[in-house]
Amino acid sequence: MLLDQTRLPAEEAEFVCTDVPALVRAIRTLAVRGAPLLGIAGAYGVALAAVRGDDVAESAGLLERARPTAVNLGYGVRRAAAAYREAIGKGADPERAAAVALAEARALHREDAEASGRMAGYGLALLDELLPGGGGHRLLTHCNTGALVSGGEGTAFAVALGAHREGRLRRLWVDETRPLLQGARLTAYEAARNGMPYSLLTDNAAGSLFAAGEVDAVLIGADRIAADGSVANKVGSYPLAVLAKYHHVPFIVVAPTTTVDLDTADGASIVVEQRPGAEVTEFTSLQVGVVGADAGGLLVAPVGTTAYNPAFDVTPPELVTAIVTEEGTISPVTGVGLTELCARSSQV
Ligand code: MRU
Repeated sequence: MLLDQTRLPAEEAEFVCTDVPALVRAIRTLAVRGAPLLGIAGAYGVALAAVRGDDVAESAGLLERARPTAVNLGYGVRRAAAAYREAIGKGADPERAAAVALAEARALHREDAEASGRMAGYGLALLDELLPGGGGHRLLTHCNTGALVSGGEGTAFAVALGAHREGRLRRLWVDETRPLLQGARLTAYEAARNGMPYSLLTDNAAGSLFAAGEVDAVLIGADRIAADGSVANKVGSYPLAVLAKYHHVPFIVVAPTTTVDLDTADGASIVVEQRPGAEVTEFTSLQVGVVGADAGGLLVAPVGTTAYNPAFDVTPPELVTAIVTEEGTISPVTGVGLTELCARSSQV
């Protein structure tokens, strides 16, 4: 059972997946989304297939291929599938092996919650170091990285929330995050629920905000971090990194080590998901927040307009001030530093 993120903020609706194809649809339509949560959902999906008596290997393949960029999805799926296989290999019957897969999904869920808390701690310490002085932080974030995408309170958002709880958040600047508005629909929803001081801006307003000296640091999550420290995250992250560099503002990536993919050598090797052009040329019920509207969109471009709609972009390591994980922080960002962090993590 998922909280259907396509219905937020208008409605907190449950989405019940009774089989793996339903979960694959939920993943593709972004009812469930965000790197860490995709890993958790993928692991539960394998357990669901096992409990139903479906072909677990085939179901795992379907889940793993549902979206290509967030490395956590494949990680979660493979972890639960391996636990299932191992149980079968040791002579467990399918029912017992399904229980083992479910236990593995629950373990991943728990570990992700713990990782959230530790990332928040390291992130706050880093902000103290980089932004001394009173007055509170003005933090800019992109996409959605809070409790909605995590077993705990999230990645980048958890750091901002921690700053808020300590009375050190002056303002959270929330990029609306076109085309699917994860910032407006989801991050603003989470910020409001937590009583945080926040303002929403269109993505293209960020430049003037930096120029006005209103941003102390950028905090974002990641979908995949390559071995050289290149960071794939929601499209629009890379332009923010360029702006941050020009304006001498720290650009901080917060992600669990499960998002680090040492098998992907560099940014050019990261597969970036291309989404349907209609997400750009039309406003759908998702973008205009109409509960229960059908999927048919309102055209906002001439009929026949084609669109460029990558879901993610890649920021090179030289534009990233620091990467914060549950195992600690690296700055500057180097392949050696990342490898050491991952070696500390029992998950990799
Ligand atoms: O397409 P989405 O909404 O799944 O993209 C999510 C993001 O890009 C998040 O910033 C990323 O997964 C980090 S979540 C901690």
